[in-house]
Amino acid sequence: MKTTEIKIVVHEYENLVELSAEDQLLMKEARKITASAYAPYSGFHVGAAVLLSNGLIIKGNNQENAAYPSGLCAERVALFYANANYPDSEVIAIAISAAKNGVLVEETVKPCGSCRQALAEAEVRFETPIRILLDGQDSICLLHGVESLLPLSFSKKAL
Ligand code: THU
Repeated sequence: MKTTEIKIVVHEYENLVELSAEDQLLMKEARKITASAYAPYSGFHVGAAVLLSNGLIIKGNNQENAAYPSGLCAERVALFYANANYPDSEVIAIAISAAKNGVLVEETVKPCGSCRQALAEAEVRFETPIRILLDGQDSICLLHGVESLLPLSFSKKAL
């Protein structure tokens, strides 16, 4: 029997101003786009801003549906739009924010499992680790690479 320990590194910041100028801008875009999320069922408004290697910032927010599973998370709305329109541009970073009643959530937002899997695909596809920024009043978390969100992930390497 062999036991392997997997290390996850999370950098926590108390304030947005502690981040690099590029990351501050990305998070501000994620925050802004929470306002136009379509979330009449949960009231949980998520915003995602994706930075591409061509310099563009692509934004998305959650789009809910009366048939609940037909809705989509903010991260995948942004990521899929970015990949559909700029298939040759690497995904460099993603900032994710969330608000309830127009107020930034207290607990740092964490992407769901399906969004982690979609981020893992983008990382493998472009062979570039993605910088991940997670927003919240408690702290803003910075992770270098999807491995820290989704260790032991399934990818094309297994196929
Ligand atoms: N949601 C996201 O947009 N991203 C996540 O990573 C977690 C959850 C959305 C889906 C749904 O519209 C609402 O938040 C409540 O689950």
